Amino acid sequence: MQTPWDHRYAQRTQRMGSSAIRELLKLTEKPDLISFAGGLPAPDVFPLEEFKAACIKVLDQFGPQSLQYSATEGYLPLREQICRHTNRYGISINTENVMITSGSQQALDLLGKIFINPGDRILVESPTYLGALQAWNAYGAEYVSVPSDKDGMVTDALEEALRYGPKFVYVLPNFQNPTGVTLSLERRHQLVELADRYGVPIVEDDPYGQLRFEGDHLPSIVVLDGQYRGNHDHCYRGNVIYLSTFSKTLSPGIRLAWVVAPPEVIRKLVQAKQGADLHTATFNQIVAHEVSRGGFLDQHIKLIRRVYKERRDAMLAAMDRYFPPEVDWTQPQGGLFLWGSLPENLDSKDVLKQAIERNVAFVPGEPFYPNGGGHNTMRINFSNASTEMISEGIARLGEVLYEKIKNT
Ligand SMILES: Cc1ncc(COP(=O)(O)O)c(C=O)c1O
Repeated sequence: MQTPWDHRYAQRTQRMGSSAIRELLKLTEKPDLISFAGGLPAPDVFPLEEFKAACIKVLDQFGPQSLQYSATEGYLPLREQICRHTNRYGISINTENVMITSGSQQALDLLGKIFINPGDRILVESPTYLGALQAWNAYGAEYVSVPSDKDGMVTDALEEALRYGPKFVYVLPNFQNPTGVTLSLERRHQLVELADRYGVPIVEDDPYGQLRFEGDHLPSIVVLDGQYRGNHDHCYRGNVIYLSTFSKTLSPGIRLAWVVAPPEVIRKLVQAKQGADLHTATFNQIVAHEVSRGGFLDQHIKLIRRVYKERRDAMLAAMDRYFPPEVDWTQPQGGLFLWGSLPENLDSKDVLKQAIERNVAFVPGEPFYPNGGGHNTMRINFSNASTEMISEGIARLGEVLYEKIKNT
């Protein structure tokens, strides 16, 4: 529908339109619907008591300072804590390498702001995180997509894609959103080396790395890059911009995340952030630092892993039991999501319409493909429903899928 405002909007808003799928997902806001659509962490593991105690302590101890404006780079003790956490994994960084952001989503937007000119190409896995596409579409990004399989981004296809001269490579190495797949160690090394050879930076988005339920921890790309080029004087000056967040370990509502990058990139991001929001909420930063210190966060993450593993197991078992044999799905070793593939002749948007009638929902996969495709794919979240709800929801979805396959 046209409005009198339309001709006033900047050109960059043209790719911000609301999608058919978002309209469909509005229908999922029914009370008795079992939703596997969102990417919400389980609210039952939010550390409410610890937050309550920390809020009171911070107000008592810090007084007005906790409610005051503060540095754009972020609260220094929190940045120091992030350095200690990062340094445990075999890379040596200092606080000049770290900036706090209001969620990783803000970091993605700021990266768009400092790097992307209209028409610039970004190399992405296909499918990839929708929120990054939404952030970068507004800056006029185009995408070169590289397919992924059960070991993540197919690095054999990467070299060809790098020849298009992308501004950077965007990769989600651990329990990727949307597929739940993890980039293998061999491919991580290949990615670091190829990106270096072609002089293309890497943006590593890692909200889920801590949420591994099984298998060995794999070094992140920034760590491998630091080792590859030799990381001296406790400062990282390599080729990777690393993003992570407290959203999936403490709480998404506090909007707290961080970037690790070479100091000059951090300085540019700080300038961009000043124009966006001056700084991330002072109170939230001090409270999160208070909650997570003294080993609490490590302990808490163990609880989250246990709960999510149970839910993942319940979902995989229910899929084995209730899904038709024509449907495939990934087996994530961590994170929040798995990814289903239906027979080619099915469209997951049609399946969703019918699923909503049966009070169950998921996200159709198409929007995660920046250059089209994926009409027969679906993202299914397992973190935000009890094991009983998961079993019931997957049984309902299984019925819909059997019917669709029979009638299409
Ligand atoms: C891959 C990825 N990047 C970034 C984000 C945004 O996270 P935050 O809550 O820190 O903004 C998400 C959230 O789900 C995500 O899955």
